Amino acid sequence: PPLTRAELVDCWIPPTGEVIKVNFYGVVFKDQGALGTGSTFVVWFGPTPRLTISDPALIREIFVLKSELFEKNESPQLVRKVEGDGLLSLKGEKWAHHRRIIQPTFHTENLKLMIPMMAKSMEDAVMKWCEEMSNAGKVEIEVSDWFQNLVEDVITRATFGSSYEDGKAIFELQSQQMVHATEAYQKVFIPGYRFLPTKKNRISWRLEKEIRKSLLKLIDRRRKNSGCQSVSDECPNDLLELMIKASLKPGADESSQFLAITPNDIVEECKTIFFAGKHTTSNLLTWTSVLLAMHPQWQDQAREEVLRLGMILNESLRLYPPAVAMIRRAKMDMQLGGLHIPRGTELLIPILAVHHDPALWCHDVHEFNPARFAKGVAHAAKHPMAFMPFGLGARRCIGQNLAVLQAKLAVAMILQRFSFELGPNYQHSPSVLMLLQPQHGAPIVFRKL
Ligand code: HEM
Repeated sequence: PPLTRAELVDCWIPPTGEVIKVNFYGVVFKDQGALGTGSTFVVWFGPTPRLTISDPALIREIFVLKSELFEKNESPQLVRKVEGDGLLSLKGEKWAHHRRIIQPTFHTENLKLMIPMMAKSMEDAVMKWCEEMSNAGKVEIEVSDWFQNLVEDVITRATFGSSYEDGKAIFELQSQQMVHATEAYQKVFIPGYRFLPTKKNRISWRLEKEIRKSLLKLIDRRRKNSGCQSVSDECPNDLLELMIKASLKPGADESSQFLAITPNDIVEECKTIFFAGKHTTSNLLTWTSVLLAMHPQWQDQAREEVLRLGMILNESLRLYPPAVAMIRRAKMDMQLGGLHIPRGTELLIPILAVHHDPALWCHDVHEFNPARFAKGVAHAAKHPMAFMPFGLGARRCIGQNLAVLQAKLAVAMILQRFSFELGPNYQHSPSVLMLLQPQHGAPIVFRKL
């Protein structure tokens, strides 16, 4: 029989009696800096048992061997308003149908066509730095802001292609809304907060209306022109085009004949891609720059051999994974590695903690050592499931190729022209607010080579 709440707590709360701080996600930290917790234990949020799983063998069961027994949990309503009701939160047939439609945008062949555009975007920004540093020979840049703009530009092109200008205006509104929502997110557990007509909520509601209206207008225009409009050369399979084509031919795909993708679905998917892609990729670039600034010998190594960039990015994603955890809910009672899991239990997979578990990595687990990835991702740790910055299984990140390609191009371009070090006011303070980010920003000083 399912264990009772009291028995669950007895079994899985670590017997050490250590004080564990739980933030609103349920991610457990001993303190801001101690990243590796490693143990399996239960935290209760009201009536929902939440079990933290950090054993890679059990993680494999959840994402690969028994994935059909689990589903994603729902984000709070306030968050869904911003993240969109798209791929991130959809389930079942509707999720599978949308994933099939959207996937080709992120295929390597399609992304390759975007390389000249990405390079141009970066080149323009880097030239600006060069102008700024002409007298002093160096310039200090707050890289988190800079990378956010860069990433925003690329995601806008991948999403909207030939409608880039309109798309840019829409995503600017969404960026503003994300700022308000991130502040409101901290109050997500105040019952009914999202209905209160506070100043921030009112701004957020207005922005949401505007985003929806502009997107629907754009979709309507593209639907009318679909087939005769010359799509962008740099991104012929832009996301909007693929979704619009699918919306005009419901039932073309046999397995989805009862599932049309509606203009409203398209709005939600555009919001989701922007939400899921922007801060994650810019965080990866920010942390990589910080780590390279701390370890200048790796700047030289990457300049000598560009292949090392992949190792550097992986090590950055290991130490500072932008998404710190994933959550799944048990759809039925089940056995998991000898544990009885009652239906409805939420399983939290602490990516951050697993990436810092000394039992899975070597004694230098907290050090920056890209060489551990020299033989590929599967051989970097003692278990192939110990590295999962982009998630695992069928629901792994759809934008992984885009994120990695963009990061490689940006870092390579910067390394070709500059050497860099941390700004004098840099404070190392990784903190989690939705994503893992440097709480006090990342000022970096660049010098021309
Ligand atoms: C899913 C991380 C970039 C779009 C995920 C998941 C993770 C992740 C961990 C799985 C979540 C789960 O299973 O609960 C990252 C990181 C990125 C990144 C670390 C950059 C360094 C992007 C980009 C896009 C994107 C650039 C789009 C342009 C998505 C979407 C999903 C997802 C739509 C949901 C996929 C599904 O459930 O079918 N991402 N992501 N991500 N990501 Fe990313």
